[in-house]
Amino acid sequence: MSKKTITPGGGVEGVVELPGDKSISHRYAILSALAEGQSEIANYASAADCRSTLECLRQLGVPIEYKDRTVRIAGAGLGGLKQARRALDAENSGSTMRMLAGVVAGQSFSTTLTGDESLRRRPMKRVAEPLRQMGATIRAADGDRAPIEIQGGNLRAIDYTPPIPSAQVKSAILLAGLYADGVTTVHESVCTRDHTELALRGFGAKVEGQRGIIRIHPRPKLTGRRLSVPGDLSSAIFLIAAALILSDSSVMIHNVGLNPTRARVLDFLISIGAKIHVPSLQSRDGELVGDVAVQHAPLLGGNVSGAQVAEMIDELPMLAALGPFTEQGIEIHDAQELRVKESDRIATLAAGLRQMGAKVEEFPDGMRVEGKSAGKLRGAKVDPQGDHRIAMALSVAALGAEGETVLRDADCVGVSFPEFFTILDRLRGQEK
Ligand code: S3P
Repeated sequence: MSKKTITPGGGVEGVVELPGDKSISHRYAILSALAEGQSEIANYASAADCRSTLECLRQLGVPIEYKDRTVRIAGAGLGGLKQARRALDAENSGSTMRMLAGVVAGQSFSTTLTGDESLRRRPMKRVAEPLRQMGATIRAADGDRAPIEIQGGNLRAIDYTPPIPSAQVKSAILLAGLYADGVTTVHESVCTRDHTELALRGFGAKVEGQRGIIRIHPRPKLTGRRLSVPGDLSSAIFLIAAALILSDSSVMIHNVGLNPTRARVLDFLISIGAKIHVPSLQSRDGELVGDVAVQHAPLLGGNVSGAQVAEMIDELPMLAALGPFTEQGIEIHDAQELRVKESDRIATLAAGLRQMGAKVEEFPDGMRVEGKSAGKLRGAKVDPQGDHRIAMALSVAALGAEGETVLRDADCVGVSFPEFFTILDRLRGQEK
């Protein structure tokens, strides 16, 4: 477990291009495996989570090559996966486990999915429930936690409304729907990221979607493709936040994924005073991709609740950690989902920020982080509890504190953004 010492101050300046989006990389890899023929995925995420997906797909008999950020996958076809010899290990990746649960539910063999200690604590009932309704037999540890064993095949089409808005659950059902006996429908009360729908269409599936009702037709012919993954906005957000809080900062991030179901965080930041603009925007492989320019600016602060939560779920830790740098603080509600992420993100972040002197109130469904009037943050020893996004959020807050911060277990950033500290050091002119 590595420690990282963060010395505050300075600004961030420069131009960066980020590794591929984690969410999109998972989906392109899974659909390439289910397609017929060869796929080539450029700028595949360097995130450990996305390597977990490749490893699980290899265990299911899919030949995969990964070199220089490009993944080549020889598609097995919808019916071509093979029974794995051992449990598939999704490690820390909830997306890998939940989406592959949908895929293996469609196979006529049994598969066990497991993960690391954090993933084995996370709720899987939300995915087991609809897959059972479709006809899969699922055995899981207490309370439907991993390891989960799925015996699939002969799936029925269902019409399902997930009780909790979740793109992972929606995706699992749509992927299982590829193998169902009719049209499967998912209803969303709040729209979550739609990368699965876009990618399914790109590979040749028939997916209809309108106002929160998504329908997938079974047994399409999926065809291998050449794709390129846009940079990860959920990683970019940490660099954007650093530029906002440090004076003399100006950063340009090229080729970032700006799918409207993900980019709400930029609208929110602009609404509280951030100087952010998008000088170019284009569509690539069905996804919006653009450049994002950000400069230091005073921030007002504000509230996040309701539908905004699902739209910015992965960015909430960074937004909350911006609280002490704003006039009015940041208050988040309706975000109880944060308690069942890689860590209890409300508790972990509150503890870290309090260590640094922030005034934080915790609610069952969120938190309030006081603004500048509560005083300046001071460097401290902080523990992200192995949670990558908390580690990066606390590191950025530490840049604006007085005195050094020592971050425990800093390597955990590799789960989504292994290059985080190197890129940050470069933008701070501290390249080693
Ligand atoms: C993701 C969906 C979200 C998000 C996660 C990635 C995805 O999770 O927090 O980091 O790629 O579909 P939920 O589906 O649990 O909300």
